[in-house]
Amino acid sequence: MFSPDLFAGQVALITGGGTGIGLGISTLLARLGAHVAIASRKPDHFGAAVEALTSQGLSASGHELDVRQPERVQAVVAEVTSARGRIDLLVNCAAGNFYAPSESLSPNAWRSVVEIDLYGTFWCSQAVHPVMKAQGGGVIVNISMTLHYRGWPMMAHATAAKAGIDALTRTLAVEWAPHIRVNAVAPGPIPTEGVRKAFKPPSEGATDLFGVERAMGDYAKKAIPLQRWGTPQDIANAVAFLASPGASWITGAILVVDGGEWLSRKQ
Ligand code: COA
Ligand code: NAP
Repeated sequence: MFSPDLFAGQVALITGGGTGIGLGISTLLARLGAHVAIASRKPDHFGAAVEALTSQGLSASGHELDVRQPERVQAVVAEVTSARGRIDLLVNCAAGNFYAPSESLSPNAWRSVVEIDLYGTFWCSQAVHPVMKAQGGGVIVNISMTLHYRGWPMMAHATAAKAGIDALTRTLAVEWAPHIRVNAVAPGPIPTEGVRKAFKPPSEGATDLFGVERAMGDYAKKAIPLQRWGTPQDIANAVAFLASPGASWITGAILVVDGGEWLSRKQ
């Protein structure tokens, strides 16, 4: 559905772009002509992604980054801008998550998730702002979730952080218009390796209320109106649309891509 040169000459910075949903986004944007700068903590993750993309003749670079460190965020943005001359698109996809009873979260456990998801999204957005402003425009797409639309026990840290990301999306969309569009995509359940780790049973003694149910093979058929799990490609398609000129009058939107899951959720 997208023209193969949709993003030709453009540069996209994708945090968490080496695995799971982020890798799906990096792959689609690169196939549509963008240079993709993939930034995350683990060289194994971004390195393998860059290797896979460049071996197909696509344009990609890897950047070691912990989004909790604003100075490193600034440095990576400077690195990409100096190598490629511009940053047209920022996708804030990096996140951390795990199931844990709220009363048991240590200060560092709470801080880790909120700092990766919410602070990281803000530091990266703030760092690309001057670059996008100077070049006359740009697009930011944040990756949110839907679990905070209702209560979601044992994910207080991640749901609070993603609710903050939704607020940032709306506020920055208004504050940084007309040059920078800021939108979000809210994925439903997509069985990535990352989510498998996050949903593993919590610490000993706690009850895993949802992990077992979600792991059931027929969950998708029962709980998702469109009757299948999502894929990284589903989210990548939504990101590509929001980054494209076809979305030039869309800002501050949070696009739910979940097969109808949250609307029909029982709990
Ligand atoms: N239950 C309770 N606390 C947990 C936990 C769990 N399952 N997993 C980690 N923590 C706590 C740690 O005990 C630590 O707190 P402490 O110092 O008080 O002991 C704190 O969280 C940080 O853990 P650490 O492993 O040092 O963090 P990190 O910075 O290396 O990793 C995480 C960040 C914790 C978010 C880790 O889950 C991660 O790297 N996630 C990335 C992948 C991911 O979550 N993908 C899913 C996206 S939906
Ligand atoms: P994932 O593969 O684990 O993705 C998380 C990514 O974030 C990894 O590439 C990881 O790379 C990176 N990351 C983690 N901590 C980081 C840090 N401190 N600094 C920089 N990068 C960091 O899991 P996923 O399922 O694809 O999730 C991708 C996004 O979709 C997340 O925002 C998640 O909240 C969202 N989401 C997922 C689902 C789902 O069902 N899968 C549903 C709703 C929303 P490194 O380890 O190399 O740092």
